[in-house]
Amino acid sequence: MKKVLVTGGCGYIGSHTIVDLIEQGYEVVSVDNLSNSDASVLDGIAAITGKRVKNYAIDLRWPEATAQVFEDHTDIQGIIHFAALKAVGESVNEPIRYFRNNINSLLNLLDCMVKYEVPHLIFSSSCSVYGNTDQLPVTEETPTQEAESPYARTKQMCEQIIHDFARVHPKQKHILLRYFNPAGAHDSAKIGESPINKASNLVPVITETAIGKRQEMTVFGDNYDTRDGSCIRDYIHVEDLADAHTKALQHLEASRQQNAVDVYNLGIGEGVTVLEAVEAFMKVTGQKLAYKIGERRPGDVVAIYANYNKAEQQLGWSPKRDINDIMRTAWAWEVARTGGRLEG
Ligand code: NAD
Ligand code: WQD
Repeated sequence: MKKVLVTGGCGYIGSHTIVDLIEQGYEVVSVDNLSNSDASVLDGIAAITGKRVKNYAIDLRWPEATAQVFEDHTDIQGIIHFAALKAVGESVNEPIRYFRNNINSLLNLLDCMVKYEVPHLIFSSSCSVYGNTDQLPVTEETPTQEAESPYARTKQMCEQIIHDFARVHPKQKHILLRYFNPAGAHDSAKIGESPINKASNLVPVITETAIGKRQEMTVFGDNYDTRDGSCIRDYIHVEDLADAHTKALQHLEASRQQNAVDVYNLGIGEGVTVLEAVEAFMKVTGQKLAYKIGERRPGDVVAIYANYNKAEQQLGWSPKRDINDIMRTAWAWEVARTGGRLEG
């Protein structure tokens, strides 16, 4: 059984990926300092898979604590590095905290990869590295633009650090996965998105409004140059994302990657407007949604969606779910974690 270290394993995408890895026969060790998650997610993982994953609740910013995980598990054969701070708005106000957390965590892991001879790294990157691009759909060749936030800059910098690292460490191979807009929850409704920090992404805002945690939600702008005036994004189901990580790891293990570093877009290849997403939610769940049209949100790009041909051709991955699956599973998870609809 191959052992994989998943950082950020108690977080949203990390927890779903752990489930997929276990189901594909991997043994998983998690590191998560629980700064944006709760250890109870490990119960959800156990309920789905029948396996209890060990989480080291340590901070990857600390080199000794990070190295200790590798001392305890000298047979780690791959790292999937999710752990990061990810709130775009917060990063604008606290850039140093974002750089310290996201960059130092990666640097400490890269040191451990050398010291403990770990051959493979999968890194969580983001479509935000493309910045405000007008080339659609976005391919991996689309030039990256100036980052729109310190958060996005940490992703650009981490990608660059991995490229520089790879030049002098030919024994290691790396995959950078650029996710578009992850959303939805595990089909079992036993795990899903449950951040400690207040959700600001569209899908959790929708479900939290429908269940009564928020009185109403705002659609940020309906006067863009799009088919219904609202912004277009590429919403990718978290279980499809999880599958992509396992496939990326298997790709590296099978020595199918020639380059030291390869980059892949992960999206469904189709744009959905905010109003279409709202409609999909109401149609799929039968719930009403209190929403109003508001001002444009500063910093929003009008439209972005992926071309994922490279992942399809090289990793054998393609998304199986759409916006309806996202809304169905996100709603089931919201109901499960809230214990039913809130009244009043
Ligand atoms: P998340 O916040 O749910 O998970 C990240 C986890 O990392 C959290 O549980 C947090 O406690 C942990 N963590 C953060 N800093 C740490 C540190 N220094 N040491 C140990 N643990 C630490 O986020 P997510 O949505 O699962 O995102 C996972 C990765 O994917 C992140 O790198 C994020 O930037 C990237 N990403 C996310 C999205 C998205 O919209 N969710 C989109 C593109 C990329
Ligand atoms: C989606 C659309 C909003 C909330 C962010 C990061 C990006 C990546 C994915 C990490 C936009 C609209 C939203 C609301 C709304 N993350 N919206 N009302 O901004 O596309 O991407 O998450 O790497 O880097 O920037 O995602 O979910 O916030 O917004 O109308 O209450 O929904 O304007 O058009 P975004 P989002």
